[in-house]
Amino acid sequence: RVPEPVNEQARDYAPGSPEARNVLAEIDAVTAADVRDLPNVINGVRRPIGESAPVVAPHEHGLELGRIPVATAEDVNAAIDAALAARHDWSRMDWLDRVAIFLRAAELVNGKYRDELMATTMLGQSKTFHQAEIDVNELVDFFRYNVKLAEQIYTAQPFSVTGVQNVMDHRPLEGFVLALTPFNFTAIAGNLPSTPALMGNVVVWKPSEKSALSSDVVMRIFVEAGVPAGVINLVHGDGKLVTEVAQASEHLAGISFTGSTAVFRSIWRGIANNLETFRSYPRLVGETGGKNAVIAHPSADPQALLVALIRGAFEYQGQKCSAASRAYLPRSLWQDLREQLIETTAGLVVGDVTRHETFVGAVIDLAAADRLAAVFDHVKQSGDHEILVGGSVSTEKGWFVEPTIVETTDPRSFVMSEEFFGPLLSVYVYEDDDWEHTLGLLDSTSQYALTCSIFGSDRIAINTALDVLRDNAGMIYVNDKPTGATMGQQSFGGGRGSGTNDKTGSVLALQRWVSGRFIKENM
Ligand code: SER
Repeated sequence: RVPEPVNEQARDYAPGSPEARNVLAEIDAVTAADVRDLPNVINGVRRPIGESAPVVAPHEHGLELGRIPVATAEDVNAAIDAALAARHDWSRMDWLDRVAIFLRAAELVNGKYRDELMATTMLGQSKTFHQAEIDVNELVDFFRYNVKLAEQIYTAQPFSVTGVQNVMDHRPLEGFVLALTPFNFTAIAGNLPSTPALMGNVVVWKPSEKSALSSDVVMRIFVEAGVPAGVINLVHGDGKLVTEVAQASEHLAGISFTGSTAVFRSIWRGIANNLETFRSYPRLVGETGGKNAVIAHPSADPQALLVALIRGAFEYQGQKCSAASRAYLPRSLWQDLREQLIETTAGLVVGDVTRHETFVGAVIDLAAADRLAAVFDHVKQSGDHEILVGGSVSTEKGWFVEPTIVETTDPRSFVMSEEFFGPLLSVYVYEDDDWEHTLGLLDSTSQYALTCSIFGSDRIAINTALDVLRDNAGMIYVNDKPTGATMGQQSFGGGRGSGTNDKTGSVLALQRWVSGRFIKENM
């Protein structure tokens, strides 16, 4: 009954094409207009902005694009109250009616709002045409695939026998869900509140203030698609404050989070410290950090490896939890690869994302630029490290960090274990006959377990890697870059310090937002 989903196909935003011209016109409209109000939306009402904070373009931080309210505890409580008031009707609505709403949302993303979502994602999050397009397409995919996956849940029923009818009632959670979303994907920002809502839950959504521009468009899409007032409430503001207020409510039923490992751990601590407060144990779903490795066997195809390293490490400035940030490369391939990596990286155009030739935009804010600058300084002072290319930061006009490759002779160096969330790739060169030992090193040097790429054509070597790295990643790519999971095909998520591995894009993710009730009836 629910349409079979297909992945949204890439368009051609070639220079001068009508698609590109439309997006550029939308970018002009956003930048030429007055600073946009990006308000809280509580119970369907766009509330007036009182005290506000600016939202700027990372590639040109003098350009103010919008302003967001500084939310207070009162705002958060109003959002919780609105959500709880909407719960009765929404949670009892036929699931197919909810499906229809999110299918309409997919159509709105693809049609009326496509150019605006592209423009706001490019300007607000510093994405190139190509990166923004992947993001917007993924939002469409989330809506289309989630509704199909929901069908699997709702139609899954127990066996019944003569005289007994058994029914599984897939109820939403009792209370509200808090969705805390990151700056780096418009799609994730849309997915985290909409998935629990699709399953009948009511939501308080706190987007990253850095991507407020595109989140505002997503919220307008929810409203226009028919999500009733109060079902998804958007509140800006300090994540710590929003979380603390939510954690003080007995009705907090779950948290859906994507962001840093440190923040997710503090959320768990907050829940643990308040356990007596809640009517039910809140469900915690988190997708957090990564220190994703690319490991190549001597049998690897060097050209495919080169492309994976460049795209995996430097697309979207390395600001993907899945980004390639450490590489283990065999000495026999290194000599040629070293030169090619340096040359290709040095040739990547860094700059204004609205220009077609740009490959690397700005990092999201000054804190990110400063963090990378501090890492470069540390590396320059450390004996076992050499910066092969890049290593500088410029923050005058925009927050630009050069794509950078560091080679280290210390496999336990901090550059091989810590996440920096920027365009930095660390390389360790191993001796060709050290495959198993190197796999063990890779597995033991980082707390994360998100994505990993294995390159090689030797089947036995690949199988050995799959075995040694069994718990190292929730997503393993063989002969491919470690980024760019396709919705419905590679369901996303990782374990260890990378999250609860609830596999976005699979039925497992939706299952977290329902709580079963069995009804046995003697007939
Ligand atoms: N889903 C993205 C990827 O696979 C990261 O969040 O790269």
